[in-house]
Amino acid sequence: MSDVTSARLTITGLRAGYGAADVLNGIDLTVEPGRLTVLLGPNGAGKSTLLRCVMGLLKPSAGTIELDGTRIDGQSSAKVARAGIALVPEGRRLFGPEPIADNLLIGGWVSGRSKTQLEADRESMYERFPILGRRKKEAAASLSGGEAQMLAIAMALMARPRVLLLDEPSLGLAPKIVSEVMELAVDLARQGVGVLLVEQMVSKALAVADQVAVLGRGEVVASGTPAEVRADTAVAATYLGVAADA
Ligand SMILES: Nc1ncnc2c1ncn2[C@@H]1O[C@H](COP(=O)(O)OP(=O)(O)O)[C@@H](O)[C@H]1O
Ligand SMILES: [Mg+2]
Repeated sequence: MSDVTSARLTITGLRAGYGAADVLNGIDLTVEPGRLTVLLGPNGAGKSTLLRCVMGLLKPSAGTIELDGTRIDGQSSAKVARAGIALVPEGRRLFGPEPIADNLLIGGWVSGRSKTQLEADRESMYERFPILGRRKKEAAASLSGGEAQMLAIAMALMARPRVLLLDEPSLGLAPKIVSEVMELAVDLARQGVGVLLVEQMVSKALAVADQVAVLGRGEVVASGTPAEVRADTAVAATYLGVAADA
């Protein structure tokens, strides 16, 4: 991943929903390259909806999404993927019966690179995640929760993203594995990727974040550094006090 070309993701005035009422009511958010931005907020606030919009899985009704100044909103998810955005969706969707090795290739196909290139990238995934290498011939469904999450992230990385969207990757994982996932997010950011991490583990996420945004009912109610967001006592009491890991 040392050859990441940095890209800034800029979301402006974004509105989107599933029917009559908008779920997102005008979101402004920037994900800087090389930084870990954590998106917090209660269930139903619209975090997954926002990630789906960025990935091109849901069409916004207003606003813009730009990657390094180029509009990507309204484009197909395949085009968005080729532009350099990858999403690890909630619930780590894998191709369970397929070998781990094939899951990795599937993750990379959207990038449009050749099989030879993908196979080379896959080797680097086996170096980064040795457990995937040792078990590459086994079905993805045989992995534990934490291992499956690592595979889901590795599949996204196979597309060589410039911006990586992670939707609650720590859900249901043991605390030690949660820390590993967060360390990986930090590590990827340090390599130049812009990482947007949706999290419920508030204190753990604030400890590793470069930037934080808090989403409440379809609006960004606070954003800044972790210290700035913590210092906003009204926001901290309403949105951070309910920390699952407090
Ligand atoms: N596929 C869908 N169809 C209709 N409503 C949805 C759909 N997905 C989510 N919603 C609604 O949109 C709102 C935001 O959901 P979501 O983005 O999943 O929130 P979060 O990820 O912050 O928990 C919720 O009220 C939810 O019920
Ligand atoms: Mg969600």
